Amino acid sequence: MSAPRTLAFLALIAGISSSQTSDCSYLSLLNNLTLAPTNELLTIMRPVRNWTNPSLVQLDMVMYGILDVDEKAQTVTSHIWTQMFWRNEFLTWNPSDFCGINVLVIPRSMLWIPDITILEDTSDTGSVQDSPLVSLYPNGLVSTSKHQVLTSTCHLNLFQFPFDTQQCNITFVSFNYEADTVKLGTGSTSTNLTSLSEQLMVTQGEWQLKNIEIFNYTFIKDNISRSKLAYMVSIKRKPMLYVAIFIVPLFYLLVLDLASFCINESSGEKLSFKVTILLSISVLLLILKDMLPSTEEKLPLIATYCTVIFALVGVSVLEAMVVSFLIGLDGYSGKEAQSSGNTHMDIQLEATYHKEPATYEEQGIAKPEKRHLAMDWPSGLNLLRQILEEVKAARQEAGRQGKGELKPGRYKRLAQIIDYVFFALYFLTVASFSVCMYIVWIQGYFRNSGN
Ligand SMILES: *[C@@H]1O[C@H](CO)[C@@H](O)[C@H](O)[C@H]1NC(C)=O
Repeated sequence: MSAPRTLAFLALIAGISSSQTSDCSYLSLLNNLTLAPTNELLTIMRPVRNWTNPSLVQLDMVMYGILDVDEKAQTVTSHIWTQMFWRNEFLTWNPSDFCGINVLVIPRSMLWIPDITILEDTSDTGSVQDSPLVSLYPNGLVSTSKHQVLTSTCHLNLFQFPFDTQQCNITFVSFNYEADTVKLGTGSTSTNLTSLSEQLMVTQGEWQLKNIEIFNYTFIKDNISRSKLAYMVSIKRKPMLYVAIFIVPLFYLLVLDLASFCINESSGEKLSFKVTILLSISVLLLILKDMLPSTEEKLPLIATYCTVIFALVGVSVLEAMVVSFLIGLDGYSGKEAQSSGNTHMDIQLEATYHKEPATYEEQGIAKPEKRHLAMDWPSGLNLLRQILEEVKAARQEAGRQGKGELKPGRYKRLAQIIDYVFFALYFLTVASFSVCMYIVWIQGYFRNSGN
């Protein structure tokens, strides 16, 4: 009698303990949900009891960083984190039946996962890090998340570069399910998302996140409707570096070119100075070429700015050439006249010098002086020659000065007039150009940033 009793008692204990352990283990829950690696039905079918019920996929995207904006390739590389929720109507349980288990983490490969992709995605597949697990909640909610370095195409409008704001869309869509079977939605609002991204964002580089707007809509084309969820990310460039290394130096070069009108024409420095300025500008143009793509639809303002400055300095170099040519013409004719006068004078002086000894002998006076002079002939001659040279030099100088003051050549006067008129026009052009550029380009930026 005792043996069956003890057996029954043992069986009772075993039964109680086994029922307790089975209720609290994941195993019983998995068995209850028929979640086994061999159950492929759960991975194949969209998890709804009635096929006309659409699956609502809720998606949240948070931006962690803007890593790169490639103006040439028109792509934006960002670091994003997405989380998706949907309901699996077959996988529900009552937590109180299973010791209060209220979340079950299982491999991703065991469940149906909606095929949500990003339309603008051009990144390598290697950069996507799908979490290998999904979380399952008692009401059938499935949640999965993924980190991704996303390189997305974005039509960059560089007209206002570097004072530009770009808007890039990140659009989520299911390629295989139509809008009446898989619907996309979002759990958060635009403002929440923007503030969250702003808090989390670590790297922004030269960009500043302005806001993220959410568009949720159904797109119909060729009788096929797709549910789309678009995040419109607005980012603003921080322009100070470009201002410091590009715009200000270019403007400074233009001012230097204006100032070079004060350089004296005769020194010949003016032209070479202007050509140096032209060269510096072309170096900056080379840098610009590396920064911007050759989009032909609308020339960026910065390219217009560079081209106009280059053209202005180019024209001013041409003008300096014309002026120096005219002055050269004047100087040439003047020199010709001077040099002919000099030869005449030389002959005269030489003639008088040859006559001198004869006159001394004819007069016959001061013989000892003459002997004395004859004895020191070489030094005396040198002295005379020196004096002669100096007199000639003084005469030339006087002649040149007199000519310059009294009779400026007509070419030189023409050159001066051209110089003054050109300077006035040039100054006006530079001033109006600067004002235009400021209004169109920079003021617009400050107006935008104010809003
Ligand atoms: C982004 O998508 C929204 C919604 O379709 C659209 O209105 C907007 O123009 C798009 N923006 C860009 C920059 O393509």
